[in-house]
Amino acid sequence: MSEKVVLAYSGGLDTSVAIKWLKENYGLDVIAVNIDVGNERDFSAVRQKALDIGAIKALVIDAKDLFVKYFIFPALQANALYEGQYPLATALTRPLMAKLLVDVAVEEGASAVAHGCTGKGNDQVRFDVSINALAPDLKIIAPAREWGMTREETIDYAKRNNIPIPVTVSSPYSIDECLWGKAIECGALEDPWTEPPEDAFTWTKSPDQAPDKPQYIEIGFEEGTPVTIDGQELSGITLIQQLNEIAGKHGIGRIDHIENRVVGIKSREIYEAPAATVLLQAHQALEAMTLSKDQLRFKQKVAQEYADLIYNGLWFSQLNRDLSVYILSSQRYVTGTVRMKLFKGHSNIVGRKSPKSLYNLSLATYDKGDQFDQSASAGFIHLFGLPLKTQAQVQLLADKEGPLSIMAPKEEEEDQE
Ligand code: ARG
Repeated sequence: MSEKVVLAYSGGLDTSVAIKWLKENYGLDVIAVNIDVGNERDFSAVRQKALDIGAIKALVIDAKDLFVKYFIFPALQANALYEGQYPLATALTRPLMAKLLVDVAVEEGASAVAHGCTGKGNDQVRFDVSINALAPDLKIIAPAREWGMTREETIDYAKRNNIPIPVTVSSPYSIDECLWGKAIECGALEDPWTEPPEDAFTWTKSPDQAPDKPQYIEIGFEEGTPVTIDGQELSGITLIQQLNEIAGKHGIGRIDHIENRVVGIKSREIYEAPAATVLLQAHQALEAMTLSKDQLRFKQKVAQEYADLIYNGLWFSQLNRDLSVYILSSQRYVTGTVRMKLFKGHSNIVGRKSPKSLYNLSLATYDKGDQFDQSASAGFIHLFGLPLKTQAQVQLLADKEGPLSIMAPKEEEEDQE
């Protein structure tokens, strides 16, 4: 009996070819595993395809619940955005997939795990590093990183071996989807000066085609987790799906980013992430109302660390566990409702309320009912400004060039000829 390999199977060209290639080059029997993270597909057809190509077994794992609970919501609570732009959709799926592949490998007594990543991207890093951390004895094979075939040659290989060529092969783009967003790469998008063609987008309407009337929605949060839309309680999965739908219809969530990959290159990435965009915005608005200034400042740093570690494939690190404890603790009072206006590519916060709000009208108001003791301000300002005043007298004002000199543009030198 041959040894077995568990392959992360998408149904696309590369992983379909990999089923044959792994048998041919490694003599391994392939168990194909298709993991559903909200990338809507005909999973039973994908499963059957794997078997037709020659997999000895094909599994479909519905991982949407795990994905929302252990990956999306923690990332939302952290406000994780890689380089301030990318909500980390694909990046969040990889450690979950790695975990599920390893589980299947152990259950099936496989000696290796395989995935369809090429040698240029982040996903190979995330898969390899995670699998290695969870199961150091499993061999990792990345056929597309090894086989050295061009796209044309891969298609030829498929034709020679009667492997059906997916219709997506004719698409000019490389696409990866999950509940938290869609990543679009390649084709015309590789020129960073070229505006993404409209056909790159499938989740979002073009903002100029979006409805002419704004739509208002209310998102309810409990301890940092979104639980309702317009007062209606929804499961995490349904809530995200509905927001992808609603915000996508208004053209919200298109992202165009030059991104720094782990492997050292910059790449132009287009994303569609309507639900993520709206939820991150709403969540931050609620935090602005319920967290102190110091918590907000500190949490921004945590968010960046957290986003970097997710992007870099270090999900299973202790740093993640440490930060997660902080993030969760910070969410204790992030409960309330945010009101948003969706209109032609934009979502704006137009209202927020919380039973744990730190916004105190009787302190903030300029109208009747003001309880703020304005007479206390003069003394406060005196002490607050004391270090500045001291320094200015000793240094700034003593400087003969005057207090603005450091900002002054250099005078142009006369041409000496
Ligand atoms: N640049 C994004 C990331 O690194 C998206 C990757 C999309 N992956 C893919 N196999 N097409 O997370």
